[in-house]
Amino acid sequence: MKIISDIFKMQRTADDLRASGKKIALVPTMGYLHEGHLSLVDEAKKNADVVVLSIYVNPSQFAPHEDLSTYPRDFARDSKLAEARGVDIIFAPEDKVMYPEKELVFVETEEVSHILEGEFRPTHFKGVASVVAKLFNIVKPHVAVFGQKDAQQAFIIRRMVSDLNFDVSMIVAPIVREEDGLALSSRNVYLSEENRKEATVLYRSLNLAQQIVRDGERQFTRVRSEMLRHITAESQGKIDYISFVNPDTFTRVEEAGALKRVLALLAARFGRTRLIDNMFLEVSHK
Ligand code: PAJ
Repeated sequence: MKIISDIFKMQRTADDLRASGKKIALVPTMGYLHEGHLSLVDEAKKNADVVVLSIYVNPSQFAPHEDLSTYPRDFARDSKLAEARGVDIIFAPEDKVMYPEKELVFVETEEVSHILEGEFRPTHFKGVASVVAKLFNIVKPHVAVFGQKDAQQAFIIRRMVSDLNFDVSMIVAPIVREEDGLALSSRNVYLSEENRKEATVLYRSLNLAQQIVRDGERQFTRVRSEMLRHITAESQGKIDYISFVNPDTFTRVEEAGALKRVLALLAARFGRTRLIDNMFLEVSHK
């Protein structure tokens, strides 16, 4: 496995790979790898000859009050895990390489990037889209793999690819969970023992929503109330939002109508740790 930190070197390596007919897959991450990230590597391997894993904690997607400085990092551990999983190249640039001067040009993201996560993190998706565009231009992948865990991010990147005609195919892989249902996240290490136990309520509330919808409920305000009741009864979690969208457009859904699938998304804080989760709800049309 090669480790590359220089942009020019990564670009020339990508050119050589492309010239020799190899298909490149990119898995963008911020490191502190877990099984969720590694499942994306597996998916990448199935769809390309060479897998590039990027590890970069991108400052431009963190607001000043967020956890940039304390974001967990362990490059030695990450590179062992990546190599064992069959990653061919780690691209791990430093800040001064990625942002040699204050940026002037960004990828601007609109409507969908201002709701849900965007309401609580107004500049987040502009930072994400801009760094992913940079990574696409540096790694030159044929395929890029993202996780459904960050459903809104995956939707926005998909739209960036189509709106700006990036020549990259997108794969979105399912959420990997702990045995008790908690979605894997680099931020789970921040959770106290008590919060860690309570945080499983998020997955349980999504399952509850699936059950209610399967039983015939069509009004999502009622589904939301049930989830809210469940989460507040079973935990100290502070909910930022519980929302339901059409997965194809990310527009809010109040009533199921003819939709076959609705995406339920939520964010909640346990202590100082903010967690997100989501689930596709199959709507019954009996
Ligand atoms: P990060 O949070 O490190 O996540 C990297 C990728 O792993 C994302 O596509 C995310 O959706 C996926 N992922 C995280 N947890 C997962 C889980 N439990 N199951 C499946 N996939 C999971 O997302 C980012 O980094 C950054 O915003 C990035 C795209 C790298 C841009 O900086």
